Amino acid sequence: MEPIRFLDDDGTFTLNDPEAVSCLYFPLASEAGLKSAITPGLGGDCKLDQETFLLEPVSSENLHASRSTRNFWCVTEEGCWSAAGASAQQEADRFTEKQDECALTVGLMWQTVCRESKQLGLQAEITSFVPPQDNVEIMEVQLTNTGTVPRNVTGIAAIPIYGRSADNIRDHRNVTSMLHRLQTTEHGVLVKPTMSFDEKGHRENHNIYYVLGSTGAGEKPVAFYPTVDSFLGEGGTLLKPRAVYEGAEGVPAGTEIAGREAMGGIRFPAVTLEPGQSTEYIVLLGVSEDEAEIDRVLSSFHTVEQVRAALSVTRAHWQEQVNVRYHTGDPNFDRWMRWVSFQPFLRRIYGCSFLPHHDYGRGGRGWRDLWQDCLSLLLMDPQNVGDMIRKNFGGVRVDGTNATIIGAGDGNFIADRNGIARVWMDHALWPLMTTKLYIDQTGDLNILNSPAPYFKDPQALRGTGIDQDWNDAYGNRQRTESGEVYQGTILEHLLIQHLTAFYEVGEHNIFRLRGADWNDALDMAAEHGESVAFTCAYAGNLRDLAGLLRRLTKEGDTVSLLEEIQELLAGGPAIYPDIPAKTAILERYTRRCIHNVSGRTIRVSLRELADNLEIKANWLMEHIRRQEWISDGENGWFNSYYDNHGRQVEGVQPDGSVRMMLTGQVFAIMSGTATDTQVEAVARSADRYLYKKEAGGYRLNTDFHELKFDMGRMFGFAYGEKENGAVFSHMTVMYANALYRRGFVREGYRALQSLADTALDFQTSRIFPGIPEYFNADGRGMYHYLTGAASWYMLTVITQVFGVHGEGGDLVIEPKLVREQFDGNGEAAIDLSFAGKQFHVVIANPEGKDFGVYRAPRTVLSREEINSLPESGNTIRVELT
Ligand code: G1P
Repeated sequence: MEPIRFLDDDGTFTLNDPEAVSCLYFPLASEAGLKSAITPGLGGDCKLDQETFLLEPVSSENLHASRSTRNFWCVTEEGCWSAAGASAQQEADRFTEKQDECALTVGLMWQTVCRESKQLGLQAEITSFVPPQDNVEIMEVQLTNTGTVPRNVTGIAAIPIYGRSADNIRDHRNVTSMLHRLQTTEHGVLVKPTMSFDEKGHRENHNIYYVLGSTGAGEKPVAFYPTVDSFLGEGGTLLKPRAVYEGAEGVPAGTEIAGREAMGGIRFPAVTLEPGQSTEYIVLLGVSEDEAEIDRVLSSFHTVEQVRAALSVTRAHWQEQVNVRYHTGDPNFDRWMRWVSFQPFLRRIYGCSFLPHHDYGRGGRGWRDLWQDCLSLLLMDPQNVGDMIRKNFGGVRVDGTNATIIGAGDGNFIADRNGIARVWMDHALWPLMTTKLYIDQTGDLNILNSPAPYFKDPQALRGTGIDQDWNDAYGNRQRTESGEVYQGTILEHLLIQHLTAFYEVGEHNIFRLRGADWNDALDMAAEHGESVAFTCAYAGNLRDLAGLLRRLTKEGDTVSLLEEIQELLAGGPAIYPDIPAKTAILERYTRRCIHNVSGRTIRVSLRELADNLEIKANWLMEHIRRQEWISDGENGWFNSYYDNHGRQVEGVQPDGSVRMMLTGQVFAIMSGTATDTQVEAVARSADRYLYKKEAGGYRLNTDFHELKFDMGRMFGFAYGEKENGAVFSHMTVMYANALYRRGFVREGYRALQSLADTALDFQTSRIFPGIPEYFNADGRGMYHYLTGAASWYMLTVITQVFGVHGEGGDLVIEPKLVREQFDGNGEAAIDLSFAGKQFHVVIANPEGKDFGVYRAPRTVLSREEINSLPESGNTIRVELT
């Protein structure tokens, strides 16, 4: 297998013989919504959303079979050849010396495949991209005669148009083709199904799916094969279509056909290529409701000059978007970080669906993703994040849970009309984590006083009951007794989220697991399960929230809060050990808010509020330290969960095997629950029980050798896959982040670097550069691109490793780089924007010392306005004028 080679510092890379590796795919997408997945053999698919697939949906399991998705045939006197490598003959020649030579080059949102048939002396270079603001995938095909004699070539584009909902892949596949209405135009094939068809109800369809073609000079095609039937011919296949091999005439523009599977089959005029001569073709694949828009797309992209200009714009656009650049001692790591920093944009466009591994979900983002997106935006494009945060708080219910069905655009939350909704007990954490980063980076502490509405739907009593009085007329905003929409401050939202969680405890006085926590696959312990891991995280948040309140406080200051919140603030530490008393408090509060809120407010002293939260945080941490510490005789770690039988999940088993999970360790460390001595012990335990170099680093858990139906579906997965013991990037990154925060820099570096090293080791990871959701037991990267790990990786590298972060709006630089991260001159650097200005921060360590030894690194900032560089120890604070 050939290695991946980077070509420049933008992250562009190349790979020879890419088809020798299975399951490689790449995303191409536009901010307008078109989402493609493309393989080196031009397989994959293309869609706007779940209902609107232009190309037939594929998953990782049939990706190899989708190789004739975007085909381009070259008919010559000496035979037919597929410029995409998708012909029966080329398949037969694979892995023999007759196979085509093939090289792939990829940059942010574009790819070029160069393929040459030595036998025919023909080379094809196919560039695919999606312009940032248009819903069209563009394919530029350049054919070159690399032989020694002139060659006649007829180009035929062959793209089957699926044109309907992904659900119809099995549900009425044939019946829905009867809805198709096909039409050939001067440049291609349009398909407009009469209706969209499913059991929920049939609706009139307005989408037009199209494949258009022109020569590089903008000339029209000569004929079309608009149906799969006419293209394949009787008994033909997409790898050996009779229309191509037998020279079928096709139909002219202006042909209309009803009720057939559609084919974007386009025959171009024959050309004679002299040796060394090239010719170009353009193929456009898209979907739109408006024929005029299709004409506009065609006139914008029908010559090679237009397409190349659009490609430059696309390349520049994404390079600009990813406006952080890293410089360390390892240039490949820096280039890899370009891809990691690009991934949050992909997550925003694709959500958690629509790439071949992500063959689930119907698009849209989850609650965690919303807040994670904000993290990366805060680092790259912070202008509108304050606004997004304010809108996202409108998804919090007054009982502290939140909307889980999230619509398009910011702040659009959809009512959950299912019986009883699932509640993920970690959800209330992420908004504070993001809001705190926002405040640190911008200094905008006042956001805590911004008003926001609460979400309202039939779900009530924290997902345990239904508000029978709610109806559509009530709407999705919480109202008061007098019928007005109630707005509380963001601070009030945060208080409600954390205080309600505080009282929702199980038998061990640990927060109940409910439907699951961050680990979605812990979904079978709703009655008695408890999450120590996320109780730690809440304890840390309570402390952070208290810290923010103290910063907000001037002597004697008060805030206005919804009267009902008094229930959650009453009762001091004396009742914290009393589980029934806690349950009763929560019950009283949620019952009072089951339909309307009073709308009345009380004033509470900020100082008292901060004290109240801090006492709760301290109590929780102490409780966990006392109750959840596990020892194996030598080292120790924290138990992370209780199962549905109320049993502690981790520990040394009677047979001597060890059950340990990473999640509990991460949040015990991050929150400050673990003491420094405990962090040391935990790190040793993690190295001993969870670290596996070949798998890419720290695994999520040891092998329990049990199905554990009292915990969750994760135990049904084979060990080493996904949430069951894979090296799950997101949690490993959070582990690293926690270690760095606590000053355990070497340990943090090991966790963080092991992910990068494995991902970059193409022989093992077999993925394009970037961070995958997880590495399986063989170290193979899985579920590439769409993962919250990317935002967290960036966050950790920028704010911890380089240590560049905000504090009250000031720029603070507190590097935690280790010796190996400096280049040959003893320098490491980062370019990033902060407070709307671009910074070039250089950390100089000329003597090549290690972290903890180098002091007060010379830090050079490229801005002149910096008025002071007070240095103390290893930290520099830049007060921005
Ligand atoms: C995915 C989900 C995330 C969930 C995690 C663990 O992680 O998107 O919401 O918390 O699995 O179950 P990700 O791919 O974002 O790393």
